[in-house]
Amino acid sequence: MNESNLQTIKQRYGIVGNAPELNRALDVAVQVASTDLSVLIQGESGVGKEVIPRIIHDKSARKHQKYFAINCGSIPEGTIDSELFGHEKGAFTGAVGEREGYFGAADKGTLFLDEVGELPLSTQARLLRVLETGEYIRVGSSEVKKTDVRIIAATNVNIQKAISEGKFREDLYYRLATIPINMPPLRARGRDIEMLFRKFASSFAERYMLDPIVLTDDAKMLLQSYKWPGNIRQLKNVAEQICLISQERTITADALIQFGITDDSNTGGGLVLANQAQGQHSYENEREWLVHALTSLGKEVKELKEMINSQAFIHPQAPTHILQDADYAVAPAYEPAPVTHINIPSENVQNVVEYVEPTPRSMKEVEEMQIKEALQRNHFNRSKAAKELGISERTLYRRIKDYGLEKE
Ligand SMILES: Nc1ncnc2c1ncn2[C@@H]1O[C@H](COP(=O)(O)OP(=O)(O)O)[C@@H](O)[C@H]1O
Ligand SMILES: [Mg+2]
Repeated sequence: MNESNLQTIKQRYGIVGNAPELNRALDVAVQVASTDLSVLIQGESGVGKEVIPRIIHDKSARKHQKYFAINCGSIPEGTIDSELFGHEKGAFTGAVGEREGYFGAADKGTLFLDEVGELPLSTQARLLRVLETGEYIRVGSSEVKKTDVRIIAATNVNIQKAISEGKFREDLYYRLATIPINMPPLRARGRDIEMLFRKFASSFAERYMLDPIVLTDDAKMLLQSYKWPGNIRQLKNVAEQICLISQERTITADALIQFGITDDSNTGGGLVLANQAQGQHSYENEREWLVHALTSLGKEVKELKEMINSQAFIHPQAPTHILQDADYAVAPAYEPAPVTHINIPSENVQNVVEYVEPTPRSMKEVEEMQIKEALQRNHFNRSKAAKELGISERTLYRRIKDYGLEKE
């Protein structure tokens, strides 16, 4: 694909960035669009996988036919077969009428199976059959039906683990991944990080009629060295938070640190190197340095806590209703602790949680705490909480059971 076609695609779908791996992913998507080959999009959560199937469908001969995007992780195990393949009247208790199912409804069109790694094994067997022969059977029927559906699936990196644990069929994996497309993590996208931040910050500033945000050079460097575990979704949330609550519109690295953006490149190795360069490396020195760093971090956290609790921290022009935006997941979903939230005096705000002191906790405790908070923030709406946590609803159900977090 030539440069101008690539730019047209990016503009049309609102894709920002120029990283070679991103361009390659878009290129492959356009190249395979005209074929009927199955495509498997792989990449961490929040890297922008969902736009790819849309591009493939729109550029294919199926573009005037149906396109369905199904999140396999959000459909309960008991109903997923009937959702996908349909069922006959009376197939099971409650099956009052018959149901066509997505594979029937999408005939001649495209089905996007998101979070395909979450499919139960029995459904995987049905899916493999329909991929290989175009045939499927409705739940409660013996009649073989035919369908002509193009399958595009997406999964995060956990599918490899699912395969090794026997939870995902390897043959299905290879069948789905006839054409694999890898979406790179944000931390591997170099200058795109800054570009994306600027894009999000300026569109939020415009939307909420606030002054634009400017980044200092050290802030730009910090954005690039941070690991971004929640990828572009996290970056978008951070840009929105900064845009809304920072009174100072020129953002320095120090200001970014207050929003949980830490200098990941400097942990461990960097410190040793710095000390060696000065010819004074010793474990004593390192310990002293660490104690000093932790003490000043503690102080900063305390100050931040005070600032957060004082309402002056909120930008005076900032409207509060946007925190209800479904896409608004607070950054701490990716960071175990500390959890920084804002006290906004509005009955509309749902995403306000307590500041949590960063005491050492086991991973399990951290997970339990995060789930508990996400459930409370979302008034026990499991679908919203799962989205905010970046996990499937089924996984959330399991965790709720494991930790006994059912609503009393
Ligand atoms: N290159 C990009 N440019 C602009 N926005 C992006 C880009 N990639 C992802 N996004 C945005 O980031 C968010 C997460 O993307 P999504 O496709 O839902 O991620 P995934 O499905 O991989 O978890 C969405 O709001 C999406 O619009
Ligand atoms: Mg997704």
